[in-house]
Amino acid sequence: MKVWVIGTGYVGLVTGLCFAKLGHQVLCIDTDPAKIRVLREGKAPFHEPGLAELFQEQSSVSSIEFSEAIPVDGATDVALIAVGTPPLASGAADLRAVFAVVDRLAQTLPRNAVVAIKSTVPVGTALKVRERLRVLERADLRVASVPEFLREGQALHDVFHPSRLIFGVTDERTAGRLRTLHAGLEAPVVVTDPSTAEMIKYASNAFLATKISFINEIANICDRVGADVAQVALGMGLDPRIGPSFLRAGIGYGGSCFPKDTRALVNIAGEAGYDFQLLRAVVEVNQRQRLEPLRRLREWLDTLDGKVITLLGVAFKPGTDDVRESPAVDLHAMLINEGAEVRLVDPVVRYVRGHKGETVHVYSDAYEALEGADAAVLVTEWPEFTTLDWHRVVRTMRRSFFFDGRNVLEPETVRNAGMTLANVGRGTGTPVTVRGSDTTNILRPDAAFASM
Ligand code: UGA
Repeated sequence: MKVWVIGTGYVGLVTGLCFAKLGHQVLCIDTDPAKIRVLREGKAPFHEPGLAELFQEQSSVSSIEFSEAIPVDGATDVALIAVGTPPLASGAADLRAVFAVVDRLAQTLPRNAVVAIKSTVPVGTALKVRERLRVLERADLRVASVPEFLREGQALHDVFHPSRLIFGVTDERTAGRLRTLHAGLEAPVVVTDPSTAEMIKYASNAFLATKISFINEIANICDRVGADVAQVALGMGLDPRIGPSFLRAGIGYGGSCFPKDTRALVNIAGEAGYDFQLLRAVVEVNQRQRLEPLRRLREWLDTLDGKVITLLGVAFKPGTDDVRESPAVDLHAMLINEGAEVRLVDPVVRYVRGHKGETVHVYSDAYEALEGADAAVLVTEWPEFTTLDWHRVVRTMRRSFFFDGRNVLEPETVRNAGMTLANVGRGTGTPVTVRGSDTTNILRPDAAFASM
């Protein structure tokens, strides 16, 4: 099949490469000439494990090409829209880019081509796109909603091994075309209407965010009553109705998806006259969770004015260079505000924009960034930081206060090296014994669990 993918961000580029690998002829389109230049030079524009290799493989067999504009000849079977839908000040998604693409496609697509929306868009958008195409006298074009569930850092795994494929369509013929497009991927397929498909995407992200905020609240209570949230999560997660994933307490979720999509769904509900109380609380809890390390730092250091604080990790999670809504950026601003000298360190991010728009240098070596520091916070659980030589860290820092914001360090090892360690609701972090179950995916890298 011939496929156009419009928008070469994470979702667009990874999806385009996946379709190329599945044997389709793919054209990726982006209005940003700098992006297209980089892509034509055969370079991956962002850090994603395995992306550069797949990119080179597919470029060399010419199954993927790049363009700055939607071609005028219109020769394609499917046009996949994967442009950004950033949040407006109200929290609602900004759909201008989507509709600008739709208008262009209306001028050029052949009869009965499929316009498939991959961008995360408010419920009802596909129907509005249909209506727009009708006004433009292109009612022949088939509009579908095909939401994406890939995670940054594991994007290639997720795109080739999807947990499910959701086809939001209004006719069987379009479902058939989408089946052909995805042939070669093994996953359950849900064929539904476009609005339901759009809601599946938001509801999935909102539910995962709810799990995180829930366990974070439990962690905060654990902190105050002397229980260990990691073991609580372990005990809860063994119930198949609950499941073990997304129960890792920490300083809250970030990234380009959960913060944006939770706010957008609150907004969608509000516009439909419904107050999504639970999700509003999820968002609020996530914002408040950023304050946990601050609370502890103030307790340790009295005032943060003039203190040197190192933040380990700038990317919103390991395996990516994405800093959107990263807790590190928020913490940086809050600490600066209290008069601290803040040092950021990350294996892949080299600089970041501060809250006032200034460029903030990011160290690449943890020991250099920890030199003479009064306290440090583990913000992103990069392996480089979870495997530090703690004796060396104690010698390097001026004072050895350490906050594990991701609950990934084995408390005993760190404390035995002479660090004062706090985490998010782990209490003493005493290992627990469970027999007969594989629990290794829950509490990495706590040796007591990993060995089971
Ligand atoms: C998320 C979803 O997981 C994807 O399914 C979805 O396709 C994507 O959003 C999207 O809408 O495009 P992503 O933002 O890449 O993917 O990252 P996740 O791995 O889901 O992590 C999100 C955040 O939750 C991170 O900040 C992570 O640190 C945090 N998190 C995750 C926790 O704090 N605790 C957990 O137990 C799990």
